[in-house]
Amino acid sequence: TAVEPRELLELAVDVAGEAGLLAAEGQAKVAVLDTKSSPTDVVTEMDRATEELIRTRLLAARPGDAVLGEEGGAATGSSDVRWVVDPIDGTVNYLYGRAEWAVSIAAEVAGEVVAGVVAAPVRGEQYTAVRGGGAYRDGVPLRAAPAVPLEFALVATGFGYGARRRAHQAEVLRTVLPRVRDIRRAGAAALDLCALAAGQVNAYYERGLNPWDWGAAALIAQEAGSRVGGLHGAPPNPGLTIAAPPGLFEELHDLLAPLGADGDG
Ligand code: IPD
Repeated sequence: TAVEPRELLELAVDVAGEAGLLAAEGQAKVAVLDTKSSPTDVVTEMDRATEELIRTRLLAARPGDAVLGEEGGAATGSSDVRWVVDPIDGTVNYLYGRAEWAVSIAAEVAGEVVAGVVAAPVRGEQYTAVRGGGAYRDGVPLRAAPAVPLEFALVATGFGYGARRRAHQAEVLRTVLPRVRDIRRAGAAALDLCALAAGQVNAYYERGLNPWDWGAAALIAQEAGSRVGGLHGAPPNPGLTIAAPPGLFEELHDLLAPLGADGDG
């Protein structure tokens, strides 16, 4: 029987809600840590526990599916559904007691994302999309801001963790910053793409995202009217993810391509 994307979304929303509560309880504990234990260990621990909950709940409901998670590799399943999961996107924000972190769950059927949820429990926001069915925040339809010229664009971006990559990202930013209205660095790629969907930024680009960072949120951005892709026509990949409404997408693409923004310099 054919899989109904809306049913996959319903399951994803339930599981993301439950996972968000668990992670939010954990974040409250990080804040009251004594000096003996390392806060980063607690975050890693919460990442693992949250992903475990997600994996267990998804597979209890749909035992034949595969789950690719940030913390655990892809289990292969007998159905053609694969879940792509980031238990806590925005771990540094999480660690610092900030609200900009999210649970991200995408459902792929035969390799294509068909449904996704990004839940930001501390902000009390839930972003959802089904392919072809539009994007929503808490049930209210979202529309990306209309394309503006690059010089008037508020552009979100993010940085990787390695020193060499960061040095190159700073080089790229040196050229981009004087050409745009301003830059935002929120610290959670999934929420950057949701902000684009909600018209809170005009565009987004980042080097080195993993499928679990963008799986659900890229669909949400697309369903709200943005184009999401890489350099030279490639899909969003570990090279470079660019997202913006048509017109602005091409302008940003053409600025970033000669800078080698999909490489590490
Ligand atoms: C990171 C965040 C960050 C982005 C990094 C991601 P994580 O995800 O989304 O904003 O700049 O590229 O790896 O590690 O917090 O799940």
